[in-house]
Amino acid sequence: MKHLIDIKDLTIEEIQNLIDVAKDIMQNKEKYSKKCDGKKLATLFYEPSTRTRLSFEAAMMELGGNVLGFSSANSSSAAKGESIADTVRVVGCYADIIAIRHPKEGAALVAAMKSEVPVINAGDGGHSHPTQTLTDLLTIQCEKGRLSNLTIGICGDLKFGRTVHSLITAMSRYQNIKFVLISPKELKIPDYIKKEVLEKNHIEYLETDNLEEKMPYLDILYMTRVQKERFFNEDDYIRLKDYYILNKEKLKNAKKDLCIMHPLPRVNEISTEVDEDKRACYFKQVRYGKYIRMALILNLLEVE
Ligand code: CP
Repeated sequence: MKHLIDIKDLTIEEIQNLIDVAKDIMQNKEKYSKKCDGKKLATLFYEPSTRTRLSFEAAMMELGGNVLGFSSANSSSAAKGESIADTVRVVGCYADIIAIRHPKEGAALVAAMKSEVPVINAGDGGHSHPTQTLTDLLTIQCEKGRLSNLTIGICGDLKFGRTVHSLITAMSRYQNIKFVLISPKELKIPDYIKKEVLEKNHIEYLETDNLEEKMPYLDILYMTRVQKERFFNEDDYIRLKDYYILNKEKLKNAKKDLCIMHPLPRVNEISTEVDEDKRACYFKQVRYGKYIRMALILNLLEVE
């Protein structure tokens, strides 16, 4: 049985296939509207979410299927002490596929090991968020027309940002990718990403805390939120939360075809004045997320 726990579970050919199906869905919505007739998706969310949970649910509904689930641990029997392993075995009796988000790294893997239906990792702690990465790859492919020959700036919380870790892992497999990793020193990318992903794959990267200096070189600027929920110390969060605020002034030396992305939710790191800039892609990114999740559900359920 297939699961999606980490973006590395997919080859670049499999990713390209998902992107191609997502693009076909965008063009031919009616063709897909009954593909999951009679199927059910369960969303087990132990952590808050707007986009991921609702886009999974919208995706299944647009495929003609149904959805069930919970949106917080407190509204499930986890509050009574039920384990993830037991929960997925139970939910597998009701649903054909499960999307799970949990604050603990590795929780989705535990779920997959015990599940009798396909499991999708919808975010596990600070570790990984593979369906956000698929969303990001579809966005890059559609907005830039390619997944190679790109200089990608990633700015903000590179330490706790699971979308960042998954994106670097995925993009490191494409040709001629360079990363500019922009963060305060307290929120630098973890060593394991540098050693096991960037250096192992001989990917060119540099680390800096200066966004404006590197702006002219970027094809993509991926802004991220400082992850309040992962800080141990509130004073540190308050000191770092507004370290980067992207505004019109900071974009004045950016490329004309820069693609500005953000997994959202945004707090202060992109000023709302940037939303009108034609280079702002973060709300389009949300829309792409539904289509790639439709493609993923079809793939994992082995629907033709
Ligand atoms: N991008 C993302 O994971 O958003 P949510 O936390 O709202 O699901």
